[in-house]
Amino acid sequence: MDAQAPDQQTDAAKATPDDIVVRPSTDADAPAMLAIYARYVTHGLAKGAEFEPMQAGDIKRRRKNMQKHRLPHLVAELNGQVIGYAYAVPFRKRPAYRYSVKHSIYVHENHLRAGAGRKLLPALIDACAKAGYRQMIAYVDSENQASLKLHEACGFRRVAYLEGVGFRFGHWTDSVMLQRALGDGSDAPPPDHVPVSAVGLGDVSMESD
Ligand SMILES: CC(C)(COP(=O)(O)OP(=O)(O)OC[C@H]1O[C@@H](n2cnc3c(N)ncnc32)[C@H](O)[C@@H]1OP(=O)(O)O)[C@@H](O)C(=O)NCCC(=O)NCCS
Repeated sequence: MDAQAPDQQTDAAKATPDDIVVRPSTDADAPAMLAIYARYVTHGLAKGAEFEPMQAGDIKRRRKNMQKHRLPHLVAELNGQVIGYAYAVPFRKRPAYRYSVKHSIYVHENHLRAGAGRKLLPALIDACAKAGYRQMIAYVDSENQASLKLHEACGFRRVAYLEGVGFRFGHWTDSVMLQRALGDGSDAPPPDHVPVSAVGLGDVSMESD
């Protein structure tokens, strides 16, 4: 399996969602995930986006922290190449919020609209639900139609519109907050077995969109 995905020359138009496999990420996937992220850094200006620089070590460190807290970190593969990834992090650090997560999802720009997002996000939702989390939250740039549509297609609803919370490339930007319940959501109290102990949450990366 080639996890490096250097140029992603695969003709995405020929791929069908059935060809895309979602699985938990490994450290070996870090370069491929970084390459996907880096494409958005490199081309961010043209697309009106802006991302923080990141190293492979950052991804590996995040994966390790997340495994410790039973938080999913998934990749989507097409013909053995990693073409996308998604992960969840705690919604907030304080113990009261331990049943809520927020998440990020990225698909390689050569493979957009091929169904990877629609495979990754439901898989992430299922994994978070299985781990005992009850609410899932996304912050999406108000101009990011692809992400807004994908989230709504996966059961998220818009719960807040945050004005001028971002500033990039000389402009204030708005964010949309979307939410969906997992499992029993807030209809029933959480089970005794807590997915994340109150102790030790402090060292989990809060990075997300
Ligand atoms: C958002 C993103 C993950 C979607 O991934 P994707 O693999 O292209 O999405 P899919 O092909 O699975 O499409 C699923 C649905 O999302 C919506 N969608 C995806 N791209 C869209 C676009 N450009 N415009 C409108 N809707 C779009 C559609 O509803 C689509 O379903 P359909 O094809 O049946 O109409 C991808 O565009 C991406 O990585 N963007 C850059 C990073 C980013 O913005 N991440 C999200 C931060 S919150």
